[in-house]
Amino acid sequence: MRAGFFITGTDTGVGKTHTTCALLGAAAQLGYSTMGMKPVAAGFERQGDAWHNDDVEALVAASSVKADRRLINPYALRSAIAPHIAAEQQGVALRIPPVRAAFDALAEQADVVLVEGAGGFVVPLDATHDMADMAVALGLPVILVVGMRLGCLNHALLTAEAIRHRGLSLAGWVANDLGTDMAAFEANLTALGQRLGGPALATLPWHPGEPPEAASRHVALPRWHSLLRKVS
Ligand SMILES: Nc1ncnc2c1ncn2[C@@H]1O[C@H](COP(=O)(O)OP(=O)(O)O)[C@@H](O)[C@H]1O
Ligand SMILES: [Mg+2]
Repeated sequence: MRAGFFITGTDTGVGKTHTTCALLGAAAQLGYSTMGMKPVAAGFERQGDAWHNDDVEALVAASSVKADRRLINPYALRSAIAPHIAAEQQGVALRIPPVRAAFDALAEQADVVLVEGAGGFVVPLDATHDMADMAVALGLPVILVVGMRLGCLNHALLTAEAIRHRGLSLAGWVANDLGTDMAAFEANLTALGQRLGGPALATLPWHPGEPPEAASRHVALPRWHSLLRKVS
């Protein structure tokens, strides 16, 4: 691996997967081999003989390197609810060391590995650990996906504060349009840019139904390239 990032978001459903796929596609355009990882996925449906999760399938489709699903998604939780509750219901302990081991194995197989968190940055894993602890254990710089809607400035700034509080760097951020016709969209972008620090890697438009990898054309390629080179 030459570059790895942990992808977090201002909330659940704000476009972390959409953005991760876009960044994977853009990295491939820059000539890197790519891999998306979803350590903890909650919400699986039975499709024929297999269990299906939208995030895992989207990341697999957007990755240029094919790998064992058990490495891509070490923890598959059936219910689409908070991970620590889904895990408890299933009698599973969400442990960080196996995630670290899976990540290390994936890192040997691709130039760029993007790890999508679950929910927001400090979503619990159990009574004492949270998603931020996982990001710390992986030692990855963080990319923040801001779901552009009223309230996102507070969520984005709180998340940036939490990232730095855990000793991680906010490597960059992405504004994802959620199709809410947000008033003063541009002014909100400016406010984020002035306060978040780190490069704005993309503003992804709301394009319902479009495959997420198509969104890679909206990534600011020179900025993404220089970030990839910086951490290499
Ligand atoms: N910019 C966008 N254009 C079109 N659809 C989007 C966009 N951002 C998110 N979506 C859709 O909204 C839903 C939630 O996005 P997703 O990336 O899964 O969020 P998260 O990973 O943060 O939970 C998905 O169905 C996704 O395809
Ligand atoms: Mg997701």
